[in-house]
Parts: sequence; C-alpha cells; structure tokens
Amino acid sequence: MISTDVATVRPAARLRGELRLPGDKSISHRALILATLAAGECRVTGAGDGADVRSTAGAMRALGATVEVRPDDDGRNVVYRIVSPGADGLVQPVGILDCGNSGTSLRLIAGVVAGLPMTTVLDGDASLRRRPVARIIEPLRRMGAVLHGRRDDSLPPLTVVGHTPLQGTDHTTQVPSAQVKSAVLLAGLRAEGRTVVRERVATRDHTERMLRARGVPVERVEDDGAVAVAVEGGTAVQAIDQHVPADVSAAAFWLVAGATHHDAELILRDVGVNPTRRAVVDVLRAMGAEIEERPTDPTATDDVGEPIADLVVRSSSLRAIDLGPAEVAAAIDEIPVLCLAATQATGTTTIRGAGELRNKESDRIAGIAAGLRALGADVTVEGDDLTIRGGTALRGATTDSVDDHRLAMTFAIAGLMASGITMIERSGSASVSYPGFFADLEGVRA
Ligand code: S3P
Repeated sequence: MISTDVATVRPAARLRGELRLPGDKSISHRALILATLAAGECRVTGAGDGADVRSTAGAMRALGATVEVRPDDDGRNVVYRIVSPGADGLVQPVGILDCGNSGTSLRLIAGVVAGLPMTTVLDGDASLRRRPVARIIEPLRRMGAVLHGRRDDSLPPLTVVGHTPLQGTDHTTQVPSAQVKSAVLLAGLRAEGRTVVRERVATRDHTERMLRARGVPVERVEDDGAVAVAVEGGTAVQAIDQHVPADVSAAAFWLVAGATHHDAELILRDVGVNPTRRAVVDVLRAMGAEIEERPTDPTATDDVGEPIADLVVRSSSLRAIDLGPAEVAAAIDEIPVLCLAATQATGTTTIRGAGELRNKESDRIAGIAAGLRALGADVTVEGDDLTIRGGTALRGATTDSVDDHRLAMTFAIAGLMASGITMIERSGSASVSYPGFFADLEGVRA
C-alpha cells in the first residue's frame, strides 16, 4: 500500500465515545480461507473491510470461489457470502495472487495452495516484498511442495508448485509465528498422516479454534508455555457461518488513548478477547490502566468459541513495565502503541527481544523510535531492545508512518495528547486494517 496523504491531528480536551471497531483481521482472513476450502455456502458477518482482508477475498475469488461482499447494517464492517466447490474443486489462478500489504494472506494462502495440484505465484506491494518467506518455504517443501522465492528463496514473489497429497510433517517454528503455524496446519489438511507444529511460545490460536468449529479435530498440548498443535490430513472442512468479533489490535489504540489522556472514557464494543490475543489488555492493566471488561452475552463467546467482551477504558496513571520476548510475541502487533503508552508512564520501560518487529509491514523498531523521538520522547534502541523513559510531555511534530498502518495510528493517537499539531505522513496506510480510523479519531473528541 502506498499512500501519500498527510493527516493533521490536534490535541483533544476530552475523549468520550462508544466505538464499533473493525472486525478482527486475523479471524476475517481465516474465515474467508476456510470458507473456500469447504464445499458449499458460508456467510461471514462482522468481517473487517481493510485492504488486507480484501486481498484475501480477491485471492479466494481467483482460486474459484464466489465471494460476494456488502456493508453490514452500521456500515462499519462487511458481510461476505462465499460459495465454493471446496478444496478439490479449486482452479489454478490465471494471474498472480496479489496479497497487497498482507503477510497473513501470503503465508496462509501459500499453505493452502501447497496441497493443490497447480502452480501459484504470490506477490504483494513493496513492503510485502521485503518480508521473509523462508520460514514457510522450508516446512512446506518438506511436505512435498516445490517453492521458490526471490533472493535465494528468502523473499516474495513466491512460486508454489503444489503437490497432492502432501506428507505430514513435524515442524518446530524458529520464531513465534501464527502465520507459519497456520500455513503448515492448512497444508496438513491436504497431507497424508499427521502434521504437528511445535512452538516455544504460544501464538494466536484462531486457526485451531476455527478448524475445530468446522469439524476438523485439532489436538493441542501445552507444556510450560510451549505448545504442540496437530491435525490429521484428509478431514474435510465443513461450511459454517461465522460472526467476527471486533479486533483487539484496533481496540489497542483506544485503550492507550483512554488510559493516557487526562480526561477520557471510551467504550469499545464486542471486542475479541481470546487469551492468545489479549496480551495488550493485560499489559496495560499491569501498567495501571483502568480497563473494565464486560462479557457481552451469557456465553461470552461467539459461535466458534472466540471470547468477546465490551471494554471500557478510563484516564489512568500508568507506570513503566518490563516486557521480554514472550510478552513481545503475545502482543506483537500492539508493541508500537504500547511504546507510546510507555512515554506517558512513570519510570523507564524496557522491551527486550523485539527483533521480529523488524519483519512486519516496516521495521517497526526503527519506525516507532523515529516517530516518538520526533514527538519529544526519550527512546533508546540497542540491538532488538527498546528502552523508553516515561513521563514525557509530547510536542506535536511531523511523523512518518513509513506506510505502516500501525505506526500511522500510533502517531495519530499520540497527537491527541501532544501539545500543538501532529502531522502523520502517509497516513492512508491506516486503511490496511482500520478504514474508519481517522473518522473515529474525530468522533471521540467530546
Ligand atoms: C497474524 C500473525 C502475526 C501478526 C499479524 C497477523 C495472523 O504475524 O503480526 O498481524 O493473523 O496469523 P506472525 O505470526 O508472523 O508474527
């Protein structure tokens, strides 16, 4: 995604409001992919309408599914209707699969097409072409597919010559990555025998929950933080409807805004609070944030077992925190906005072992340090560790999102509490995950 627009954010005197957030991006991708693997018709309601999810929808169409989309009742999210012949009836795309800015699309779809009798080329924008793919090439090759990437098989575009059937494998991920785990599990559905993925640190488990809800048994064994997840090949994915909860990674921006602003109360509706995704809520609470959690219905879970709650955040006094590699993995997408929270906390926050942030839509360690320093924050980077001295009165300045949605939104939230005017260059990148973000930003100024 290349955006040229500059957003201007002025400080807010008060923050009030009730927000309906975009549907969870991770769950939306998976709902579209699993609906395409299932024969029949599925409806996905509450899906996010960011550019990333659209990339996955486009790829599913190219593989032969009918994917219709319309806005939902409040116009915030979308309803998808997917009619698919199922995995055995998918067709070879006539062009490349353009994954845009979306690493999740590229990696999960590579796992799908690895088990199909066709050759597929996956590509994306300039940012995606800088993101590592060796981590999926290696296990999918061992399962029998042929994969090649640019620069010695390290970068997209990625060519996948699928193989039917694949062979089950036992794979230990080198870095905590739900995308790698999911790619291997999706390939495992088309493999002979058992496929096991072992992780030293547990990552988001949406794929496992969503497969189970679609009739595919998934074993999960947890031992002292490490996890092994297994599927047996050959089980058909059933077509079911799914509602997508609001994205906790989008909620994170408002949780930090509410907790750090001196006069705030924000209500965030129907947020997914899956234990493998909610680390940002727990980290902020450990920093002293006043976040109330109200489970939204009697069962407090949606139809595929994703826990949901309304979150209410109020002005808080934050204190510094120390985050290590396990916490970084658990809150991987929220670290940039947590760095902003740290600038407003008393004491010095350390974030250790954050190297994986360099492999995201941008080098987020470099980007967050540059943007927060421009706003007057005291941020030190040593290797893959960040140190943030808190208690800074931020001053409006020009920041650059470097075309990374999470940096654009982090700097915009900073602008609500900085003195003067904050400019965010390339702010349009926010629409990768949160198309209505800047409208919401104006809406919460009381
Ligand atoms: C995602 C997993 C994470 C995350 C990304 C979405 C997913 O990536 O950063 O935004 O939906 O599986 P990794 O698992 O590669 O760290």
